[in-house]
Amino acid sequence: MAFPAERLRRLRRTEGLRALIRETRVEAGDLIYPLFVCPGRKVRKEIGSMPGQFNLSVDEAVAEAEEARALGLPGLILFGIPPQKDARGSGAYDPAGIVQEATRAIKKAAPELLVITDVCLCEYTDHGHCGVIEGETIANDASLELLARSAVSHARAGADIVAPSDMMDGRVGAIRRALDEAKLTDTPILSYAAKYASAFYGPFREAAQSTPRFGDRRSHQMDPGNAREALREVALDLEEGADMVMIKPALPYLDVLWRVRERFDVPLAAYHVSGEYAMLAAAAERSWIDRDRVMLESLTAIRRAGADVVVTYFAKEAARLLRRG
Ligand code: PBG
Repeated sequence: MAFPAERLRRLRRTEGLRALIRETRVEAGDLIYPLFVCPGRKVRKEIGSMPGQFNLSVDEAVAEAEEARALGLPGLILFGIPPQKDARGSGAYDPAGIVQEATRAIKKAAPELLVITDVCLCEYTDHGHCGVIEGETIANDASLELLARSAVSHARAGADIVAPSDMMDGRVGAIRRALDEAKLTDTPILSYAAKYASAFYGPFREAAQSTPRFGDRRSHQMDPGNAREALREVALDLEEGADMVMIKPALPYLDVLWRVRERFDVPLAAYHVSGEYAMLAAAAERSWIDRDRVMLESLTAIRRAGADVVVTYFAKEAARLLRRG
């Protein structure tokens, strides 16, 4: 059967028809909102390269959490900007650390909202690297213990999910063992399994003040040219005990997302990162593109490629727009 019997335009004629046969939808319930928590009170400092996103003190983060819940978002992912940084990133696993404090406050104010915590040392080390430094290199095995301690302290503070983003080898296993030893057997791990060494994280590093003092992250984050290697990363993280996996960034890596979706039957997340947000926000500010439409089209594409969950700075805005229909 072909033209003229077959006409694909028939089902595109009205919004009613289009909606009926739409294969992929984006709902508020799919979106996770990232927050950057900093010391102080009543602090709401806009991030220069991410207009509309802020560094927030704990009280302000609680207000954001309540708003997120009211908009129907399922949860947040928290990043911490500690009052002091040191060589071993001790703020990351301090039971009184900034993310631990924010987690307790948010879980108290909005218990049903999921709190996911990013587990990494880069925001907490004075050199800005994701692990401890030995000479010129990031020491893999010596970093694992600190990452595991961070995850346990987040879970003890009430985190619903811990999300290691450091890309050290063996960290998922180390975190799972530490959680289990601490009797936190029910805390799930969302691993940033395939995290690329991407220039799209630039605005995040301004927000989290985590730009490395020397060198870069190419000795642990993945080379942008590799997709098969992403499948190995995912397989290893699942073997080590990851409950969910994430691909990051999102739009430039939709093929990776799709390959992982095809190969593995586990919940899959994608991180629509800071640079992706910044590009879109900047172009929209100049009226070069339609912010709302490009935002929803981007989120739809990420879902269509296979993501169950999308971490995005647009979460609140998209939820508001989707509610209006
Ligand atoms: C590391 C971490 C980073 C992001 C999330 N977790 C930065 C990095 O690896 O340099 C980037 C997120 C974004 O760009 O939105 N803790």
